[in-house]
Amino acid sequence: MPDVGADLQFSLMNVLLLGGGGREHTFAHKLAQDPDCSRLFIAPGNAGTAACGSNVDLSVTDFPAIKAFVLANQIDMVIVGPEEPLVRGIVDWFAADSALAEVQVVGPSAAGAQLEGSKAFAKKFMARHQIPTAQYREVTTPEEGMAFLQTLRPPYVLKADGLAAGKGVLILDDLEEAGAALTTMLEGQFGDASRRVVIEEFLSGIEFSVFVLTDGNTYKILPEAKDYKRVGEGDTGLNTGGMGAVSPVPFVTPELWKKVEDQIIRPTVAGLSAEQIDYKGFIFFGLINVEGNPMVIEYNCRMGDPETEVVFPRMKNHLIRLFRDLVSGTLQDAVIETIPEVAATVMLTAGGYPEAYRKGDLIQLAPAGPNSLYLHAGTKQTNGNIVTNGGRVLAITSFGMTIGEAVQRSLEVADQVQFEGKYYRRDIGRDLLAE
Ligand code: AMP
Ligand code: GLY
Repeated sequence: MPDVGADLQFSLMNVLLLGGGGREHTFAHKLAQDPDCSRLFIAPGNAGTAACGSNVDLSVTDFPAIKAFVLANQIDMVIVGPEEPLVRGIVDWFAADSALAEVQVVGPSAAGAQLEGSKAFAKKFMARHQIPTAQYREVTTPEEGMAFLQTLRPPYVLKADGLAAGKGVLILDDLEEAGAALTTMLEGQFGDASRRVVIEEFLSGIEFSVFVLTDGNTYKILPEAKDYKRVGEGDTGLNTGGMGAVSPVPFVTPELWKKVEDQIIRPTVAGLSAEQIDYKGFIFFGLINVEGNPMVIEYNCRMGDPETEVVFPRMKNHLIRLFRDLVSGTLQDAVIETIPEVAATVMLTAGGYPEAYRKGDLIQLAPAGPNSLYLHAGTKQTNGNIVTNGGRVLAITSFGMTIGEAVQRSLEVADQVQFEGKYYRRDIGRDLLAE
């Protein structure tokens, strides 16, 4: 018995999860069922995470405040949800502080997070490792940019180099408009993030998202997903953070998977390893299928949102075990186990999103039933009520034997949830139904 006790003590962990969206509620939901999780704190969290652990009022980029909290609460593991703390170097900051030496942080170093934090870095990395991606030019003046734009056919793709809260990519049909938009970007439309712009060849095809967990040497592939980024049905209107997602993706056949792994995943991880970039976290590959050939649209240094809301519910694995393997260098022994059911998520948003929207409206939930799950995004608790607190309010994830069945289940719940201005797309997954 003493042995069992010692083992239990060793395995139980106090966890601090950084972030407060649908992705983080999905992490928290899994962590709340994790036999290795002792106490769970979420900073800042939302009304959903409050049911999984304790929300803490901390900013995800206030590293000294995070350190103080970690030490005061004997936190063993910090899991970083969003990109910003990673790009700002939270992993390096913890590693450099001897008082935090025992704390495991799940996420790449600042050097690794550059895959997302600088589009120019990502493009150069892909060029160094022969990873398929669109032709491009990195520019800092309108003249250089115009000269390159003139060599391309429309539409024209302009990307702010740095983080721009998902808004830094512009796609324009007309050369003159593209030139004008480029000038506005270089003049600081997205602050310093767009003082450097990556201009890319436009790729035509269907997009999908692939995720790996990597320790920078070996990797494990998680279930793939397809995200629906445009606000309107039929993929129309403005880009959003994501209006829904499904997993698995039927057009990602074994043949396409092989190309993804051989041409993209393996060379990316081998590239990180060869360049001695410390990377212990997720890589999110935003891919496009161009006539049967996968190409990289973007890298992210974190999980996707709302993709996590369909990827994690399909994984049987507990997270802490995987993260421990990641940190201790034993990831190669891990086996990702997936349920065969389809998962679909439908995102309920506040009216007006992704433009101006209201906050603070009362949300009335309905019973979700055995095949559906609420994953909160922009919600918070006040005086015992749950109110809206962001543009993307609530994801409803459902399981089914088919995409159609899973989406239908989410829509049935979505129809019954009430809040002022509620909006959602009814056509999530519809483009995949014929397959
Ligand atoms: P990103 O922020 O890099 O994911 O870009 C936002 C969206 O712009 C992507 O999801 C694509 O739909 C689109 N996009 C980005 N780069 C390209 C490209 N080279 N060709 C076609 N579409 C692109
Ligand atoms: N859903 C896209 C993203 O997380 O960036």
